Amino acid sequence: MISERVVQLLPSRVRSQVEGYADALSTLLEVRDPRVLSSIGPSALRGTVLKRGKQGVPTTMPASHRAYFDWTYPHDFPEMKELYDRAKRGQWDGDALPWHTSVDPFDPNVPLVPEDFFAYDVLEEEIGVRFTPKEKAELQHAMVSWMLSQFLHGEQGALFAAAQVTEAVQFFDGKLYGATQVMDEGRHVEVFHRYLDTKMEKLYSINDNLFVIIDALMLDSRWDMKFLGMQIMVEGVALGAFGTLYRETKEPLLRELLKNVIQDESRHVHYGVLALREHVLNELDERERREREDWSFEVALLMRNRFLAYEIYEEHFEGLITRKQWRRAVAAARGMERFRHVMFSRMVPNLREIGLLSDRIRPHYTRVGLDRYFGGLAADQLSGDQMLAELDQAA
Ligand SMILES: [Fe+2]
Ligand SMILES: [Fe+2]
Repeated sequence: MISERVVQLLPSRVRSQVEGYADALSTLLEVRDPRVLSSIGPSALRGTVLKRGKQGVPTTMPASHRAYFDWTYPHDFPEMKELYDRAKRGQWDGDALPWHTSVDPFDPNVPLVPEDFFAYDVLEEEIGVRFTPKEKAELQHAMVSWMLSQFLHGEQGALFAAAQVTEAVQFFDGKLYGATQVMDEGRHVEVFHRYLDTKMEKLYSINDNLFVIIDALMLDSRWDMKFLGMQIMVEGVALGAFGTLYRETKEPLLRELLKNVIQDESRHVHYGVLALREHVLNELDERERREREDWSFEVALLMRNRFLAYEIYEEHFEGLITRKQWRRAVAAARGMERFRHVMFSRMVPNLREIGLLSDRIRPHYTRVGLDRYFGGLAADQLSGDQMLAELDQAA
């Protein structure tokens, strides 16, 4: 391993690249379960070392899953049928959002996020200079654009995953419901892209770690792994991030947009819980169940530790501070703390509900301080309205 002292002697660009690789490697070393490592490893190589998502060209991924047809069209899952009906009634038109709202990302009277969203004090300490109000506004703009860009990229992944799962799932009521989710995710791509394009006028490339997760899910041929990854883990992150931003922003168009998206996403996670609970209980043997339980735990940790906005670091701070210093500043930001809280309060109860939080794995969650979420409400007990009310209350 190259020592920190040697790295310090390298020119700053090269140094940052070496640090980036070391960081990618340490991500993999963090995964202790060899089966989980072998399922994530090739995607990690493509995402973090080859940087396939950052080459400015379309990416192709060979998807290999079984399409499951049923020519008898059974009504086989009443709760999914109910969700399908609710989804049809809940459709909305992205054009109907108040796009005429004038958005000035640099207006201090209508902040996109509050100032404490960023840990300026930690950054100032590391760099040794104080930020001017203009520089702070620029960083806020960068941070919100970065978050929204990752939402957009995640939505593209969700759109394709929803389409694949619609083909692969064995419940016919689930296929009809899945069609509404494909439409929902298409609409989410539309509105996030429009907001970034016309209001923020900025688009960041996909974060390497998000690419790794999407790549791994696209290539996994097992529908329930796609489902677990997308409907429970990625949607959990999405709800955490959307919820935090919805709660924090004073910008009315963004708030309205997120409110609509959160309503849709709450149905998506609900669907994930219904389908996986049934599947884990009736279809998987204990070895397969344990594999999924371990996978979820490792991925939950990766999401907590690795969603660190390096793209902003590379744009603004490369050469000024090290990645390690940047990590410290991002981890200390109050906005990130809230994001982690909302994310895990959604994700952990859902894992419990689908049977992936057995007594065997609980001590691992306890060790990393996530046991306080064991008793929370799962998605099938919590409507989108309740979720929004909870966020409004906490604001
Ligand atoms: Fe979505
Ligand atoms: Fe979704």
